[in-house]
Amino acid sequence: MAQAPVRATTPEHELKFPFNLRPLLAGWNALFHDTKSFQPDPTKSEIWNRGAYLVEGLGHCSACHSPRNALGAELQSAYLGGGFAEGWEAPALTSLSKAPIPWSEDELYAYLRTGQSRFHGVAAGPMAPVVKELAALSDQDIRAMAVYLGSFNDAATDGSAQEALAVKLEHATATSAVVPASFGARLYQGACAVCHEVGGPPLFGSRPSLSLNSNLHSAVPDNLIQVILHGIREPATGDLGYMPGFKESMTDSQVAELVSYLRRQFAPDKPAWTSIETAVGRIRQGTR
Ligand code: HEC
Ligand code: HEC
Repeated sequence: MAQAPVRATTPEHELKFPFNLRPLLAGWNALFHDTKSFQPDPTKSEIWNRGAYLVEGLGHCSACHSPRNALGAELQSAYLGGGFAEGWEAPALTSLSKAPIPWSEDELYAYLRTGQSRFHGVAAGPMAPVVKELAALSDQDIRAMAVYLGSFNDAATDGSAQEALAVKLEHATATSAVVPASFGARLYQGACAVCHEVGGPPLFGSRPSLSLNSNLHSAVPDNLIQVILHGIREPATGDLGYMPGFKESMTDSQVAELVSYLRRQFAPDKPAWTSIETAVGRIRQGTR
């Protein structure tokens, strides 16, 4: 207030097309922006509604986990039906999930609280910082999110049924039972088995089971390729441990061989992925 007033023109904004056309954005808002505040569903429990409030509102989980239309708006008809973010697939959290063992409330709780679920895998890539930030929430709030998300999965298998299914899937895909003949199998034995083989020696950190991991069962190989090329340098929590990346030591065609072997071996009931090498090249360059 001690300064003399000056006359100044507001600088031109530097927004890129189409964001510089404000009337267009008003049109977008009219089409897609929802100004309604959260309305609890009276037919559901209080904890379910708390979870819905956190997931739909503050958590903005659907920003990554819902597909978008050509104009970049979330498709409400496919809410949490799976989307893409930062070069990663954010898997479907509904009954469209490709996870070989259906997600239960308890496993959702474990995943969101600790960054890993024994029947599914770990939170890596853009999901790792989400889990880190969820650390600020109380156990009760995480439980509420798990209750809400759990209600999207129709198969409510109990803990022991899940355990039995996990043992069956892991047994069926154990690599020690087969002669490692193909090139992809040799790459796996040399680069991955030491840390990922079921029943191997205990190591520091987690030992995610490849046969149970959603990423091996997905319709697209993107997350698996991301993890192989870049490793996991920033675990969601300290106990998960690190995974080395292989982008310096493997060529695109070696990664593609390995990825197609992993799909055959660990998700034998799913169709083979196509154009893997192109995807490896694209993900190595960091372009989508
Ligand atoms: C920035 C994008 C992003 C946001 C925001 C996000 N996620 Fe994720 N989520 C991902 C990605 C990517 C994966 C795959 C991670 C992996 O496989 O390591 C994932 C994985 C998951 C999985 C495991 C799915 C599976 O089948 O393996 C669950 C459960 C999940 N997210 C729940 C949530 C919840 C709940 C929220 C909101 C609190 C949320 N996510 C917000 C990107 C995101
Ligand atoms: C030095 C041990 C080590 C080696 C070698 C290793 N991994 Fe991992 N891997 C880990 C650990 C630890 C995690 C979990 C890390 C975390 O979440 O912080 C992990 C996670 C994963 C995941 C789950 C990622 C997700 O987002 O759900 C996949 C898939 C995977 N590894 C595949 C491979 C493949 C394929 C190879 C061989 C090219 C390999 N790993 C080699 C230790 C290793």
